[in-house]
Amino acid sequence: MIRLDNVKKSYGDHQAVKGLSLEIAPNQVFGFLGPNGAGKTTSIKMLTGIMPPSSGEIYIDGCSLVQNPIHCKTITGYVPDRPYVYEKLKAWEFVEFILDLYQNNNKNSQDLAHYYFELFKIDDAKYKIIEDFSHGMKQKLVILSSLLHRPKLLVIDEPMVGLDPRGAKTLKKLFRDLADSGTTIFLSTHTMAVAQEVCDNIAIINKGNIVAQGTMDELRQGQDHSLEQLFLQITEEELLEQGS
Ligand SMILES: Nc1ncnc2c1ncn2[C@@H]1O[C@H](COP(=O)(O)OP(=O)(O)OP(=O)(O)O)[C@@H](O)[C@H]1O
Ligand SMILES: [Mg+2]
Repeated sequence: MIRLDNVKKSYGDHQAVKGLSLEIAPNQVFGFLGPNGAGKTTSIKMLTGIMPPSSGEIYIDGCSLVQNPIHCKTITGYVPDRPYVYEKLKAWEFVEFILDLYQNNNKNSQDLAHYYFELFKIDDAKYKIIEDFSHGMKQKLVILSSLLHRPKLLVIDEPMVGLDPRGAKTLKKLFRDLADSGTTIFLSTHTMAVAQEVCDNIAIINKGNIVAQGTMDELRQGQDHSLEQLFLQITEEELLEQGS
């Protein structure tokens, strides 16, 4: 579903992503972990076509992102690390805007939107102005809006920030259900429990390089470690190696 071949990104003379190669099969929840500044958001912006790589190739569902950007974006849903919304719109107006943008404003999609408003418990706010929403409510609105065109790929940067425990639980279950019904999910997170609970495969990036990748069991290598312990150990080893 996703292939990245030796993708690099530099900001001036700082190389933020240093040759990322990944292959992610369909129908899975893929977790992208790493310390602050490791290159997660930079990678995600390249994967969603927001920012071109300095070099390397990206394929979504077999299509080159450079050669078929509109097709790739049509089948992708994207939730950025901060909930960017038009604050002066009411929530439902924002939803209609998104549906129009994807040329998808029909009864089925509207029904799906109503369903997600209920699922995320923000039904009461549907016809209210977004600038009065809390951070978590905006986050829920952005998440639900990213799903209305039934993307084959959902890319979500730090999904849990601002969500209350019920919202987080709902989202974790939704990730699983979506993956099981055909949506590949690529998420970055600092919440180790979320990654451990919902991700089929995990990659850890540090200073622009992938330093570990696999299923939870593969990462554990027979040891009885939590993901948090593994994360701290792997990123610490990297620091020590670079220091030596
Ligand atoms: N627009 C930019 N201009 C210059 N440098 C940038 C820019 N965006 C990110 N960087 C740098 O690139 C590196 C990777 O940043 P990135 O935002 O991808 O990290 P991240 O893994 O998402 O971190 P976090 O966990 O804090 O969200 C950092 O060193 C950061 O300072
Ligand atoms: Mg980030």
